[in-house]
Amino acid sequence: MCGITGYIGDNKKTTEILIDGLKRLEYRGYDSCGIAAVDAKSALYLKRASGRVDVLAKLVAEEPARGPQAGVGHTRWATHGAPSEDNAHPHTDCASQLVVVHNGIIENYLDLKEKLLAAGHKFKSETDTEVIAHVLEDKLKSLHVQEKAIRSDMLEPVFFEAFRRTLADLKGSFALSVIWAKCPSMVLGARLHSPLVVGLGKGENFIASDVSAFLKHTKRVIFMNDGEIAAVKKDSVDFYTFQGKKVAKESVTIQWDSTMAEKGGYKHFMLKEIHEQAEAVENTLRGRLLPMGGDILNAEMGLTAAAMKAFASVQFVACGTAYHACLVGRVLFENFGVHAGADVASEFTDRARLLDKHTLVVAISQSGETADTLFAVREARAAGAKVLSITNTVGSTLTRESDHVLYTHCGPEIGVASTKAFLGQLAAIYLLAGHFAAARGRMDAGDARKYAEDLLKIPRLIEETLEQEKEIARIAEGFAASEHFLFISRHVNYPIALEGALKIKEISYVHAEGYPAGEMKHGPIAIIYKGMPLLAVAPSGRALDLMAGNIEEAKARGADVVAIVDEASRKTVRASRYITLPKTSELLTPLLTVIPLQLFAYYVALAKKCDIDKPRNLAKSVTVR
Ligand code: F6R
Repeated sequence: MCGITGYIGDNKKTTEILIDGLKRLEYRGYDSCGIAAVDAKSALYLKRASGRVDVLAKLVAEEPARGPQAGVGHTRWATHGAPSEDNAHPHTDCASQLVVVHNGIIENYLDLKEKLLAAGHKFKSETDTEVIAHVLEDKLKSLHVQEKAIRSDMLEPVFFEAFRRTLADLKGSFALSVIWAKCPSMVLGARLHSPLVVGLGKGENFIASDVSAFLKHTKRVIFMNDGEIAAVKKDSVDFYTFQGKKVAKESVTIQWDSTMAEKGGYKHFMLKEIHEQAEAVENTLRGRLLPMGGDILNAEMGLTAAAMKAFASVQFVACGTAYHACLVGRVLFENFGVHAGADVASEFTDRARLLDKHTLVVAISQSGETADTLFAVREARAAGAKVLSITNTVGSTLTRESDHVLYTHCGPEIGVASTKAFLGQLAAIYLLAGHFAAARGRMDAGDARKYAEDLLKIPRLIEETLEQEKEIARIAEGFAASEHFLFISRHVNYPIALEGALKIKEISYVHAEGYPAGEMKHGPIAIIYKGMPLLAVAPSGRALDLMAGNIEEAKARGADVVAIVDEASRKTVRASRYITLPKTSELLTPLLTVIPLQLFAYYVALAKKCDIDKPRNLAKSVTVR
């Protein structure tokens, strides 16, 4: 969380570019923000604001910077120190000459701060980040930099060396971008366990937490690895290890268009992304389906059919919505006769230590930067397991720390509440499960063809499901005043009940629970009161009769039931309202049943006038544990 940007180049536009980059990174955190820029004469400009980037933009417009050429910016998701202007980044040293923006956590900041206070440093914030500016100040002093006396050609090497030495004192996770007023010709960046990427322009260069910050200006990027420093100048970018050794790095060209990340006429990114789900599934499946695409997918992942056959079990791991995709994966794999488990990444440590090379760990993450998931992957690999990651983000940390990668092709997801990324994750899991089943002889060519045909129909069925948006909106609006919601289902749709509850919690701030329907009578049924909204996911399939019974039990206690059904199961289920989905095969139903629940959550939040794309207390990318 937290978004950082850095720019060096055309001196007329620096602050404009930084602010625009911050707007695009706001999904990473938005409780406060700030920019700093320095001009050729070493005059420092600094503006910070509590709240959103728009507030900052107004401040900058009222009092613009005069000709800055290098700068850094930050949008914050608070970890240490309350959201406030004082705690907003950038942070500076005692002399307000060294400027730091940071994403991550400095774990030893209290130790460092104590020493710095004892040495006479004065602190202006409660953040862990500010210590970095003061450590850097000390490192510069220890290099005997007499500010007036230093030769101009020595400024860059001295700044670099002081920064490098500073990094050696920091423990924890960080992506940093730093400027020094005395040295306006260089922006420095460093990364350890938090993402940082450099954008290459002409006569200008960029550095940011992710490419969306500068995609408008350049698509040529270099992803930094952990333990690397970037020295970003107007006409060049050089990379070094934390030990100071130069590293050669290749640039890649990003295919995403910056307009792909805009709202395209929808009121919110979330609604736009719900409507992009057919495309997300289609793009993720394209050319990779069995039997024709079997070899293609194997080659892409670097995972042979023989290897798939040899694994004794598959262990899914992820957070939040991606974890719900894992739960669907577990049911699928078990259905195809593969031992499978699914855990939330933050509770995985002990289990990870029990793994060995016979287990394939499947880590799922839209961003590929979720700290809990990354740590789970590291534990699993340390124990000897192989890791396959499913992610939407090319070049993300997760891809670089996995043995195998299966990309979803959903395009950028901006809305904090994950929707199309979830459908992409499900599509990837269905692909993987099909390939495993075929490799292990659980699917013959005929089964594989049928499975592929059914999957290929899904994008059209998603479009059909979306046609019910108005009806779903009407039902949702009727429940907008409710403070409690229940979501129930069974088997492969139980994770969809969890996802339905998570979506409404995230964006409407109401209490919601997702439960396995059979578990209700073991306790939770006690909370049902007359008129309580209960959404029951009940498509045709092996769970239907039992689901119908559980719905009756809830109705008998006063629940107001909305049933997600298909034409056939509608005849079995008694509810006060129905959302009827097109028919697909039983195992594929989650690809459709989740859509009305996403729309339901969206329209409840809309009726409650919540900030749908930027829900309170949340950030899109959670890079702290
Ligand atoms: C929910 C949501 C979060 C994420 C979770 C993992 O709508 O977006 O629960 O799913 O933080 O994020 P990734 O997939 O980036 O690892």
